[in-house]
Amino acid sequence: MEKREQLYEGKAKKVFKTDDDQLLIVSYKDDATAFNGLKKGTIVGKGVINNKMSNMLMQRLEKEGVPTHFVKELSDRDTLVKRVSIVPLEVIIRNISAGSFSKRYGVEEGIVFDQPTIEFSYKNDELGDPLINDYHAVALKLATWEEIETIKKYAFKVNEVLKAFWKECRVTIVDFKLEFGKLDNGTIVLADEISPDTCRLWDIDTNEKLDKDRFRRDMGGVEDAYAEVMKRLTEHI
Ligand code: TMP
Ligand code: ASP
Repeated sequence: MEKREQLYEGKAKKVFKTDDDQLLIVSYKDDATAFNGLKKGTIVGKGVINNKMSNMLMQRLEKEGVPTHFVKELSDRDTLVKRVSIVPLEVIIRNISAGSFSKRYGVEEGIVFDQPTIEFSYKNDELGDPLINDYHAVALKLATWEEIETIKKYAFKVNEVLKAFWKECRVTIVDFKLEFGKLDNGTIVLADEISPDTCRLWDIDTNEKLDKDRFRRDMGGVEDAYAEVMKRLTEHI
């Protein structure tokens, strides 16, 4: 399958048409942004790692009953995926306090919750991806109640699968962001990516950060952290 015209360029990926109107090619870049594009940089090798990691995790999730957009890895940076229309909601699951949760509620990072939490942001760069609840999402016609129920069910299932899997890799999954899409027939599938860009991953013993927070917070060792989680993943898949 070959790339045809570019459909879209996002902050971390490009999307291309193919000969099949139901299939697209996503191409992962090394570009990194944070704070809605305010901070820009490059994480060398990130595109290759995010492509392969996301594909491995999506294949695992498919086996566990979560439908995804994944079709086939084409190369280091390119993957064939099903064409979907993205539901404009960022779905965030948290197991442990960190990031905007800690900031918003004035609590330290690292508090382990009794149960995972879920929240939605309205995927809209001009508005800065504001927090939104399910009633607002339905009012804005971003999704139906039925679609939101399906998305919640899948998101918690993804959490169970990822928690168990990352634990085997000696990594704690603190929180993560998912995006879902709709096929032409209305089926909801997991889309976008699952990578250190979109998950907080901490070393299980030391809580050392092994994800994009090292870039967001200018901590250094960004490339090494991505390589380390990728190494642990490939040793356990
Ligand atoms: P937050 O604590 O900043 O709200 O982030 C929660 C999770 O979502 C964290 O794992 C990072 C991820 N995330 C994204 O993937 N994209 C984003 O634009 C933001 C803000 C967070
Ligand atoms: N992807 C988001 C942005 O550019 C932010 C983030 O991941 O923190 O700006």
